[in-house]
Amino acid sequence: MKNIKIFESDFDSAESKAVHDVVSSGWLTSGAVTERFENLISDTLLGGMQSVAAVSSCTAAIHLALIASGIKAGDEVIVPALNFVSDFNVVRAVGATPILCDVASLTNWTPSLKNIKDVVSDKTKCCIIVHFAGIPCLDIFKIRDFCIDNKIVLIEDVAHAAGATVGNKKCGSIGDYGAFSFYSNKNISTGEGGCVTSRHDVGVFKRLRSHGMTTSTMDRDKGRAFTYDVSDLGLNYRIDEIRAAIGIEQLYKFSIKHKKRRSLVVKYLELLPHSVTSPFSVAVANESICSVDHIFPILLPLGTNRDKLRISLLDSGIQTTMHYPEPWSFSAYNDQFSANGCPLVSEITNRELTLPLHTLMSFSDVEYICHKLKSFL
Ligand SMILES: Cc1ncc(COP(=O)(O)O)c(C=O)c1O
Repeated sequence: MKNIKIFESDFDSAESKAVHDVVSSGWLTSGAVTERFENLISDTLLGGMQSVAAVSSCTAAIHLALIASGIKAGDEVIVPALNFVSDFNVVRAVGATPILCDVASLTNWTPSLKNIKDVVSDKTKCCIIVHFAGIPCLDIFKIRDFCIDNKIVLIEDVAHAAGATVGNKKCGSIGDYGAFSFYSNKNISTGEGGCVTSRHDVGVFKRLRSHGMTTSTMDRDKGRAFTYDVSDLGLNYRIDEIRAAIGIEQLYKFSIKHKKRRSLVVKYLELLPHSVTSPFSVAVANESICSVDHIFPILLPLGTNRDKLRISLLDSGIQTTMHYPEPWSFSAYNDQFSANGCPLVSEITNRELTLPLHTLMSFSDVEYICHKLKSFL
């Protein structure tokens, strides 16, 4: 029987050798390999126009962007409701209040400017936009201009969309800050990892990721400094050299892996049952954007018993998942969030199913998945 996982890691001897080389070097964290990784992220994913500070996760990147922006208790931060919980958690971690916004439509699962205007208030100090599934937010330039006019900090959550393009701009280079994830299941994977990007100097992030210290262990090892000042209230959000080395190898393969993902998405769109829709149908046809096809979400026909379908696919060796549970269903949030104001996210979260998409899949896997889906529906 087939065993098609929702995602699979795609490493080879290049990553193994890179890890071995770091271990043999004897310098395991915050060194030359991390700097090379940061420069390569800028060149490969951001058109060379941004400064990059590699950190331990996307969650860390957003947390530091909120701290650096001075977001604090009493402030409101607009966050798309169709989202991973980390964005809500870090807003709470700085004492601010996350305010949910809806998405544009059942075919465009990112917020429109109208969705933002619907929830903005005098207390709004920051807005986080997610480029969902790797598909860039279509209204990102309008949202950026609105944020500039209203002195609102714009953070792009690029966890799904490293390397994606909208207009002639790279996701993560449009807002004040970009936050990337290199978690295991991401298109660029280092196990755990992330980075924060900005067109301004990222020196503040390099201090904040390392306890707010003004010099590093490497500076002291090289004799460039003997001690340090603590200029900011930082945390330990460093990435290590082992992960940076894996990330460099992953970036070298970015373009070829992207082509593989795109070919699988095109095959899905060709073979999906007609009653099923996907935000990719519209995204792939839109020449003004280039998605990086991170996950493959579909919207099931109204009335489908999603749980029965999930079990039936699992019995056929097909793993599925959902992106994401409704945020108002979480016990840590059900007294603060509600579905009011987010009717589309409410509908999407009830009808969404994520099908497998990873670079070790074949066309025959996609054919098999679509065949099983058709048989059930
Ligand atoms: C949209 C989104 N934002 C943020 C994150 C958090 O990323 P990390 O695990 O690197 O902290 C994720 C993780 O999956 C995500 O999907």
